[in-house]
Amino acid sequence: MRINDMSDEDIRELYTASRDAGVTMFDHAAVYGVWHGCEQRFGSAVTLSSSERAAIQLQTKVGIRPTPNGAYFDFSYEHIIESVHESLEALQTDYVDVLLLHRPDALVEPDEVARAFDELHAAGKVHHFGVSNHTPGQVELLKKSVRQPLAFNQVQLSITHANVITQGLTANMAGLDQSIDRDNDILNHARLHDVTLQAWSPFQKGFFDGVFLGDREQYAELNDVLEELASAHGVTPTGIAVAWITRHPAHFQVVLGTTNPQRVRDSAAGSDVELSREEWYRVLTAAGHTVP
Ligand SMILES: NC(=O)c1ccc[n+]([C@@H]2O[C@H](COP(=O)([O-])OP(=O)(O)OC[C@H]3O[C@@H](n4cnc5c(N)ncnc54)[C@H](OP(=O)(O)O)[C@@H]3O)[C@@H](O)[C@H]2O)c1
Repeated sequence: MRINDMSDEDIRELYTASRDAGVTMFDHAAVYGVWHGCEQRFGSAVTLSSSERAAIQLQTKVGIRPTPNGAYFDFSYEHIIESVHESLEALQTDYVDVLLLHRPDALVEPDEVARAFDELHAAGKVHHFGVSNHTPGQVELLKKSVRQPLAFNQVQLSITHANVITQGLTANMAGLDQSIDRDNDILNHARLHDVTLQAWSPFQKGFFDGVFLGDREQYAELNDVLEELASAHGVTPTGIAVAWITRHPAHFQVVLGTTNPQRVRDSAAGSDVELSREEWYRVLTAAGHTVP
């Protein structure tokens, strides 16, 4: 999402650092870089041999349409087909491994989505499908018509923006913001139906308002705990922030937005750390969440 203004050389360096660190999956969306801009930057900077293409997974998303008057959402058959073809051209590839519906379209017609998915799947242009920011009810509605498994749901999750996880800890408690269910229990629905959850903005405090890492004004205790655990496990605080997400038994995939190769390496190292239960809960409470 953040590579649009990077040089070809810097994009290649980021890609190589990611591959060397064991990353195989790369997340895109039609709307990143306004219109297929980031996909184009990736496609023109990174030349993929056929064996390298087979070794990685390219994921993109469809459904957000920017206009000068703000964005709107479009899951129509025509838009899905057109946008995926544009993505393939921009990425310079014959297929994407995963296509996600980016944000729920209030005007969705599940039969239209199904027709588009069938056509893209049969043509070998999309191998797997999923959604992003969808509630369990919205997923179930799509499943009424869509024949392919909806295998992914990409949702916002970081230590500090963790309602997906923390709501269930304080279910049915009065007067506590944390106990408000904001997503109709995406977490347990995904685990019950074998949907892989992907965590977007893993280091952001909230909605694009900066990272909690190193923010001692707002998150002093959290940063103390991250530093202590980082030295105990021989990784960085960035690594522990990733380890906190990957420790969850839902096996979240962490969607990094960093453009910094060292942060990719630090994150990958963190994903190899398995925090104990006590450590995991300590991070949670240090971020200000309630464990009743
Ligand atoms: N499905 C959706 O609706 C949705 C929405 C938003 C994002 N996404 C996806 O999720 C990805 C990640 O989102 P994101 O980029 O918001 O997440 P992020 O990884 O939490 O944030 C990355 C940003 O934080 C900065 N950063 C990271 N660590 C830092 C540190 N220690 N100190 C200062 N700055 C630091 C990075 O700067 P540097 O580049 O300098 O490291 C970068 O600007 C996106 O690229 C996109 O693919 C999906």
